[in-house]
Amino acid sequence: MVTESQVLSFDMVRFLAPLREELHGALERCLRHGTFVLGPEVQTFEGRLANYLRCTHAIGVSSGTDALLATCMALQRTAGHLPPLQSGDDVVTTPFSFISSATSVLRAGLRPVFADLQPGRLHPSVDEIEQAWTPRTRAVLVVHLFGEPLDLIRIKGLCRDRDAVLIEDCAQAIGATFKNGDSVGTAGSAGCFSFFPAKNLGALGDGGAVVTNHDGLATAVREKRQHGQAVRYQFEHLGGNFRLDALQAAMLGVLLPHLDDWIAERRRTAARYLASFAQLARVRPDLLALPADVAGHSWNQFVVRSQDRATLRNALQTAGIQTQIYYPTALHQQGALGAADPAASLPLAERACKEVLALPIAPGLTHQEQTRVIEAVLSAW
Ligand SMILES: Cc1ncc(COP(=O)(O)O)c(C=O)c1O
Repeated sequence: MVTESQVLSFDMVRFLAPLREELHGALERCLRHGTFVLGPEVQTFEGRLANYLRCTHAIGVSSGTDALLATCMALQRTAGHLPPLQSGDDVVTTPFSFISSATSVLRAGLRPVFADLQPGRLHPSVDEIEQAWTPRTRAVLVVHLFGEPLDLIRIKGLCRDRDAVLIEDCAQAIGATFKNGDSVGTAGSAGCFSFFPAKNLGALGDGGAVVTNHDGLATAVREKRQHGQAVRYQFEHLGGNFRLDALQAAMLGVLLPHLDDWIAERRRTAARYLASFAQLARVRPDLLALPADVAGHSWNQFVVRSQDRATLRNALQTAGIQTQIYYPTALHQQGALGAADPAASLPLAERACKEVLALPIAPGLTHQEQTRVIEAVLSAW
């Protein structure tokens, strides 16, 4: 009897196989010029990324985490059109994200304040953000989680009315676009991207970028990524080593031209899943955490919800389908962050952590593998 192979969340080796020769070529080029930190590879990639995202500045950094950290540090020197943030200022953000969305805020000397999710969705709306607002709130950090481009019109309006800075965590959302066609990351003061391998644009290691249309903020981020250096070996303010490796920039330069095709593939798979689950979702409205903007979604993850997640997950595992839980614990309940907002009680975020399950959606997933995912989900209910 032939046993079916596992359907993986992301088969990296299979995904990169067609590009091996080109990637080797980029490595060879680096070996020939011998510049391995910043330099022309990074500059070229930054230019291409700014062009792709249609923004003024893209600054390559060492990870998505460092993109957020460098941004939160740089905003304390300049916040673009607003006065700089002060150490200890509050930043309203979501409790349902990867840890560094909030730890980067804390590490930069600011305080994350969590706004609960809106009912039926996986992020806070402007109403929850407004409820969480404190007298010391000077910034809002939104997360385009799973690649969903959040509608920021009202959140941006709130920030404008209250002189607060808007930061976009786009770690999972490269390629996602707002309704007006603009890229995520360009609506606020700064957008922070991750090139962790499993992202839609993943390096062969860690990498990230900060994008902004504010010249002063771009300069401040560039200084922060080089230990706060404005003039060679003059360190006027604290920064860190947040530099992007030339090798990773070279790899990303090979991958970037393919990004739109990969996102188109993710969108086709998502459309098939949505159509296949539509009938079930009518009976089980809790199944799909349906995003508002499906058209601009870049589908880094496709997430379903179940009040009996363990049973669903076990059934999928038995059918050979790998699933992931993003995220099992809300940020205000993490030891590293609980002290930041000890009074926080955020029932909708806590519930989401018990219910979400991510299905395979990465490019390269064959039609047959998608069918197996669909059939396994449908028969598990
Ligand atoms: C929403 C979000 N923010 C920030 C990060 C941090 O990015 P990195 O892993 O590149 O540091 C991630 C990475 O998983 C993420 O998903």
